[in-house]
Amino acid sequence: MTQKTIEFYNGNTIPALGLGTFRVDNSDECKEAVKHAIISGYRHIDTAKVYENEEMVGQGIKEGLAEAGLNREDLFITTKLWMSDYGRESVQAAYEASLQRLGLDYVDLYLIHWPGIDSALIVETWKAMEALYNEGKVKNIGVSNFNVNHLEDLLKATSIKPVINQIECHPYMTQTELRSYLKAQNIVAQSWSPLMNGQILEDEVVKEIANELGKTPAQVIIRWNVDEEIVVIPKSVTPSRIEENLNVFDFELSENQLARLNDLNKDERIGPDPAEFSGQ
Ligand SMILES: NC(=O)c1ccc[n+]([C@@H]2O[C@H](COP(=O)([O-])OP(=O)(O)OC[C@H]3O[C@@H](n4cnc5c(N)ncnc54)[C@H](OP(=O)(O)O)[C@@H]3O)[C@@H](O)[C@H]2O)c1
Repeated sequence: MTQKTIEFYNGNTIPALGLGTFRVDNSDECKEAVKHAIISGYRHIDTAKVYENEEMVGQGIKEGLAEAGLNREDLFITTKLWMSDYGRESVQAAYEASLQRLGLDYVDLYLIHWPGIDSALIVETWKAMEALYNEGKVKNIGVSNFNVNHLEDLLKATSIKPVINQIECHPYMTQTELRSYLKAQNIVAQSWSPLMNGQILEDEVVKEIANELGKTPAQVIIRWNVDEEIVVIPKSVTPSRIEENLNVFDFELSENQLARLNDLNKDERIGPDPAEFSGQ
């Protein structure tokens, strides 16, 4: 199975599909899911300090690499800086603590998790992220949940552009305006909660398209991301679903199917609105 990668403006690449790990306890279940994903062919894992599972994600990476006969460089690992660690002084220690929990000596992508409501604090925080990048401690730096205004404030005041923006995105919340801004800026879009925690899999149009293709609703939604050039990180701890979600590189959606999925947009979120979220 040939997987797809997407290139950042800095020339580095990211696998277009990865495993999400939100709401997975720091337990054997987490370790086994990550390990199963790697053995099944995933090359990209997404975690965050605030998920409180970096240790078991790291264990799963270690065991998955050993069992699959792979090297660390074969994987793309993302973690995120939580809001309690924002500010020039705390970023480096927070990054090193994440690495220690993960058992890694670098991650491929470090993200500012939310923009919060203090843009001066975000600028200070980003400058510390830039320092990590300039010192070669992290391969790529990016943001998550940034709206256009958050990005404009950041780009005006800093020198390195984020490579990616990880945002809530699915056919009920297509983020068309934000995505065209990202495209114009050469910043890659990445979707979180791509399956809406399972909710969108019950949609009649999604089910109809799945029937037309002989695929599952989850595969249709994941393929929508791939065809729209959005990096996608569906979460599952179920071995059969982990495999199912990766099995999307042997078909494409037609123009008509893509249009029917895009027509489902109703700007409906399942997560917080970044314009208001302060971490509380
Ligand atoms: N940056 C941010 O602020 C942010 C916010 C939220 C999430 N994220 C990231 O995005 C990832 C994905 O989002 P998410 O975890 O919120 O939700 P999601 O991927 O939309 O949905 C996960 C849910 O769907 C189920 N599922 C997975 N594959 C399925 C399939 N093939 N058929 C039926 N059900 C399936 C899972 O069940 P089982 O696990 O029981 O199989 C789980 O309950 C997260 O894990 C995290 O890494 C980032």
